[in-house]
Amino acid sequence: MSTEIETTGDPIADPGLQPHQYRPQDVDVAQERRTERQIAAMFGLATLLLIGFCFAYFMIDADERVFAFGDPASGNAFGGWSAQNFAFGTTLGGGLLLIGVGIIQWAKKLMGDHEMVEMRHPAGSSDDDRSATMADINAGIQESGIGRRPLIRNSLLGAVGAMGLPAIVLLRDLGPLPHDQDVTVWKKGMRVVNDVSGTPIKPSDLEVGQLVNGEPAVFFETDGEGHPVIHGHDLLAAKAKAAVIVVRMRPQDITPAKGRENWGVDGILCYSKICTHVGCPISLWEQQTHHLLCPCHQSTFDLADNGRVIFGPAARPLPQLPLAVDGEGYLIAVSDFPEIVAPSYPELARDQKQLNKKFGGDL
Ligand code: FES
Repeated sequence: MSTEIETTGDPIADPGLQPHQYRPQDVDVAQERRTERQIAAMFGLATLLLIGFCFAYFMIDADERVFAFGDPASGNAFGGWSAQNFAFGTTLGGGLLLIGVGIIQWAKKLMGDHEMVEMRHPAGSSDDDRSATMADINAGIQESGIGRRPLIRNSLLGAVGAMGLPAIVLLRDLGPLPHDQDVTVWKKGMRVVNDVSGTPIKPSDLEVGQLVNGEPAVFFETDGEGHPVIHGHDLLAAKAKAAVIVVRMRPQDITPAKGRENWGVDGILCYSKICTHVGCPISLWEQQTHHLLCPCHQSTFDLADNGRVIFGPAARPLPQLPLAVDGEGYLIAVSDFPEIVAPSYPELARDQKQLNKKFGGDL
């Protein structure tokens, strides 16, 4: 296919232009003079307004006011402005407007008016330039010897490909795989403590209808040298998952699911404090209805009915931590959470399956 017209930029013989329309100013000298005087008047008036701006600046008192309506002496005036600002606005604004309009009129009515054809240059490089560039590239390839030295070429390609490996390996630093880790730090026999004081909780500490925020006792434990067993970032990460709420209801109000009949102590149940929607901490408790409301998006869980979602966007019930009492009468966990806590995610079903295998019906 020939591309001669495109590449040479020959003018098009008839581009389809309409016949030229002459303006009144082009054919009538009197009209031209009149337009010239109008434009000059605009520029002259603009000059006066701009000089007026300078007068306003020096002559008008800054406290003086002008009123659009009414008589200020009668006390019925409104629409009042600073007289100086009013003068500034009208003189400067009017002056600039007239200059702008005058220039447009000048361009439209008096400046040259004829159609022009402007030739475009071809956008592509000439054949000579392309050939020279290809020759340079080929010379570079020849000089590098990349075609003659397959050993170096292939080993280089291997090394460049391997540059992606560190990036893939570093993904591992995003954290442990969810199904490889414990759900939380809760363990069999770990005491439930008050989240502020760290005091272990006895069933007698809770009245019917009461809710307390709890944490695993390990958050308050120290090693032989007095250092916290879990601290820093690990503590924050563990807290984000292990926080619980402990509620006491009348035992007859609770309808435990099959297999959960022994997960409470005298009407005391323990649930994750982390909403299963997107993970907000929850403790808005309505003791009459046994409902727990998440303040973030209003998911509502029925704690007397296994943490069932009764309203809102959460897709799963609130996970429940099985409770018992130790030899000294304090509330303890029977195990870690047997369900994944915190927000749902796409692999949750697979991880829950792994977890079920791990618990193996011990509960
Ligand atoms: S995080 Fe609780 S409803 Fe959204």
